[in-house]
Amino acid sequence: MERLVIEGGERLSGSIRVHGSKNAALPILAAVVMADGETVVHDVPNLDDIHVMLDILRSLGARVTYDNGNVTVDPRTIHTTDVPEHLMRLMRSSIFLMGPLLTRFGSVRVSKPGGCTIGSRPVDFHLKGLELLGAEITDRHGFIECRAERLRGATIFLDYPSVGATENLMMAAALADGETVIGNAAREPEIRDLADFLVRLGARVRGAGEDTITIEGVPRLASCEFDVSPDRVVAGTLLLAAAVTRGNVQLRNVRAADLTAVITKLRETGVQVTVSHDILELKRTGALRAVDRIQTAPFPGFPTDLQAPFMSLLTLANGISVISETVFEDRFQHVSELQRMGAAIKVDLRSAFVRGVKELSGAVVEATDLRAGAALVLAGLAAEGTTVVERVHHIDRGYEALELQLQDLGARITRVRDAKRRIGKKADA
Ligand code: EPZ
Repeated sequence: MERLVIEGGERLSGSIRVHGSKNAALPILAAVVMADGETVVHDVPNLDDIHVMLDILRSLGARVTYDNGNVTVDPRTIHTTDVPEHLMRLMRSSIFLMGPLLTRFGSVRVSKPGGCTIGSRPVDFHLKGLELLGAEITDRHGFIECRAERLRGATIFLDYPSVGATENLMMAAALADGETVIGNAAREPEIRDLADFLVRLGARVRGAGEDTITIEGVPRLASCEFDVSPDRVVAGTLLLAAAVTRGNVQLRNVRAADLTAVITKLRETGVQVTVSHDILELKRTGALRAVDRIQTAPFPGFPTDLQAPFMSLLTLANGISVISETVFEDRFQHVSELQRMGAAIKVDLRSAFVRGVKELSGAVVEATDLRAGAALVLAGLAAEGTTVVERVHHIDRGYEALELQLQDLGARITRVRDAKRRIGKKADA
């Protein structure tokens, strides 16, 4: 097991480049199976979830290389559409391989993704949409199998603007016969990034980023080269690291328009945020003010992925802040760990009441999911004394060597690996 050891109290300063977006790269790498030639994707972050996706593509028969953020995939050698169960279990978002594999090869078999620590995370919107496109779906013994000679364009209206379902159905529609309209579609920046990639491959997609997306199916797609956009959640996390340490940090390679809700709330706490082109700078000089209300919501609302990291900041703000989590049903796992560090938080159903305290104190805490883990690191950066964050593998799913990024900005944080436990004879008592 690995852990991060943090000596709190250092003010972060300096400039850092934000790496490519995990949540943009994952659906794009799934879409590559529809290309008809070697396709290159740049600025793919070096994350555990990305390598699971690349291993899945290799297991299907594609030729895949990863070299310092540059991914090359040749999908022409794919010979099966059975996604291996053990890889599927490592990353539930491999569910959005269903659309591309089904529409390109006429079949797909995946193991039903489990829930995770933030909620049950069903896939009913994905399956209902694929059925409307003409897929025959069997869902038994923990596996989902889909078959379709050829998908047919359809009008789909999502009960909820699900990011993954919007992505899955956009990809499935790209090679379907005729026109597909997706109503109540997700509007996250990653949807626009996926649409840009599909169009680069030769797909016909209109309206991505709005709540209605229209896809005109084409007989086949080509190959292309593509750059992944910056990771808005990593950018938000680094801004919060600067704010919680009274620091002054500049981020390069950021799309500020992706972070409007977060920047607005940061300014409400009293920190200064300045935007110029693809550079964001945060400077905190004085005390933090509490924020009346943060309510997570689909884009352009406040992003659920930054709810936990933002809560860490608010544990040190003057006054009471109310945070409501409306996207996932169980995304307050970080609260009990923050309470171990002295935070004053009360949770009532899907709202957390955070009363600011003067100081947090370092403690041994445990990451429960990737964003909760990041929140605990932020709290450790501000806490008095030493904080140890256990189960770092959660953090590695979404942040490329977070401790190195923070060290570059002046944090005292190191990764410690457990000495191999020696299993040997017990000494005589
Ligand atoms: C994507 O997950 C992101 N993951 C999540 O980021 C992010 O938190 C989420 O969107 C919301 O923005 C990736 O892009 C890989 P949803 P996704 O479908 O697609 C329910 C991170 O930290 N729902 O928009 O799974 C679902 O249970 C991760 O990087 C159904 O009920 O999110 C949830 O309550 C965590 N049925 C809500 O909708 C369905 O068929 C939003 O889920 C699908 C979803």
